[in-house]
Amino acid sequence: MTPLLAPSVSAQIRGRVSEIETLPTIPTIFLPLLKLLNLPLEQVKVDDVVKLVSYDNTIAAQCLRMASSPLFGLAKAPESIKSAVISLGLRRVQTILLTCSMGRGFPIKDWTIDPTVFWKHSLGCAMVCRKLSDKLAIADGEKAYMAGLLHDIGILVNCMVFPREFAAAMAHAFRELITLEEAELATMGFCHCDTGLALAQNWHLAEDMIQAIAHHHRPECSDAAQPLVALVHLSDLLCRMRNLGYGYYERQRVDMTHDPAWAILAKDYRALDQVDLVRFTFELDEAVEEISEVVGMIFGATRTVI
Ligand SMILES: [Fe+2]
Ligand SMILES: [Fe+2]
Repeated sequence: MTPLLAPSVSAQIRGRVSEIETLPTIPTIFLPLLKLLNLPLEQVKVDDVVKLVSYDNTIAAQCLRMASSPLFGLAKAPESIKSAVISLGLRRVQTILLTCSMGRGFPIKDWTIDPTVFWKHSLGCAMVCRKLSDKLAIADGEKAYMAGLLHDIGILVNCMVFPREFAAAMAHAFRELITLEEAELATMGFCHCDTGLALAQNWHLAEDMIQAIAHHHRPECSDAAQPLVALVHLSDLLCRMRNLGYGYYERQRVDMTHDPAWAILAKDYRALDQVDLVRFTFELDEAVEEISEVVGMIFGATRTVI
């Protein structure tokens, strides 16, 4: 089920989003990497990943530094991408690469949202998705990480192709202390889920990623991969409750366990009811500093526009 938008609005979004692909600043490895991430692991060759990364030395270097950050688990930076793959596993190296190439894929110029705030939220959500899937023994924690990292990609689309409209939406959200999605719908008539959906389809992302991007604010509306979408929804909420939101206080009352996403996830993963949420939020608070460090390292984002 896709969001209910007038066909003319959908067409306008799709038309403007298609221009993004032609921007010269998107790193060469970004789209091939996403395609590789969509393949089943047994079809991915280590050498293909190494070859892909060697196109961009900066990304390769960032990736090696990032592999040794506490968030990714190696005590010492690996000497090559191949040794990183051996120590961390192919999927994890792919998600590190994705994180690094995201910083290059979306250059910071006159963003309406503070880039530091945005990347902290996205990376925070990616981390929470992975941590939560570990706790629930969900098989593909790296896929969950990727969904968390990409879930708000529509916000970047808004910054790049609808800058004036999105600035008005952000200002409305800051003034009324409502959710960003509500403010976008009230002022623009569409939200970052719609623009994210257009970009995800344009990039031919896997269906579960498309669902997470398009429906993370309403997992009950997704018609595939509902548990993944619900996981992203809950992780997004947790981040926004713990100072890893969009840079302002949202006046919404959140009761995670009564959220429809909780029931969706609990249906497939009974262990959810055993998760100690208070403890989990403390763990997230402890990770905030590390997340900020990685954001500085990878995205080098420091400007505030609003
Ligand atoms: Fe969102
Ligand atoms: Fe979000």
